[in-house]
Amino acid sequence: MTQTERLDELISSTVTIPTIPSTLAEIQKIVNDPDGSAAEAAEVIVKDPAIASKVLRLANSSIYALRVPVSDIQHAVCILGLKILKNLVVQATVLENFQGRGGEALSANWLWDHSLKTARAARGLAGLIPDDPGIELEEAYTAGLLHDIGKVLLMEAEGDSFLRAVTLSRLKKVPLYESEMDIFGFTHASVGSVLAERWNMSATLCTAIGKHHDADLDPKVDGAAFLLQFANTMAHSVSSNALCYHTDADIDEEKLASFGLDDSETFYALLSDVKNSGLDQL
Ligand SMILES: [Fe+2]
Ligand SMILES: [Fe+2]
Repeated sequence: MTQTERLDELISSTVTIPTIPSTLAEIQKIVNDPDGSAAEAAEVIVKDPAIASKVLRLANSSIYALRVPVSDIQHAVCILGLKILKNLVVQATVLENFQGRGGEALSANWLWDHSLKTARAARGLAGLIPDDPGIELEEAYTAGLLHDIGKVLLMEAEGDSFLRAVTLSRLKKVPLYESEMDIFGFTHASVGSVLAERWNMSATLCTAIGKHHDADLDPKVDGAAFLLQFANTMAHSVSSNALCYHTDADIDEEKLASFGLDDSETFYALLSDVKNSGLDQL
């Protein structure tokens, strides 16, 4: 069996692998359709009370500083815009599916906190860097949110082997993706990329997730993956208690320079935003 076949088999055999939830599928269709409207999106959202309440909460949050609070979903969707709405649905979906799972090897709360921080960093970077970041702002946010989702799937599908990979990473002081490679022959990055494909995420996003641990990425060729990798580093640099040994917590000045962000006050402001974002901010 080739590695791709094994990866495919693993993903198909995982009973708990979340198929794309219907609300997310419908919202994606509307967002991707040039004629998709807020009215259509609102029709989908009202049928999902958990998401509807999040939409209202976000539209009424201080970010939008409205004088009169909104209580009408369609109005709220107009305020947020379709792309932000899509992210909110992705976020609600992954949190609902995975929160509280995990166990010894993988604290789901830690991972989601890390994912939210990476998302914040990725969107911030995409907005800050002077050159074309190779990925849109809101898509960068989704990439951050989903970049490590492969870990959750590996934990669910092959918990014992995944636990071994985690232990091996700690003992040998090698990054988790290296010990995953030893044990599975592929990494959480490829698993995540396959899931993103199944969820009909864009090619840019799937590639960025798949390559987020690749060494020596060329920012000109793999701009989105390069950005995501750096966002991951930023998220690690502001939080403690990583699940495993990792080497990517130091902000590399050279990389910062390659983004055109050296000596940039705005970069450090973003880093402190990243620090303050996370699970308790939801
Ligand atoms: Fe990762
Ligand atoms: Fe990560």
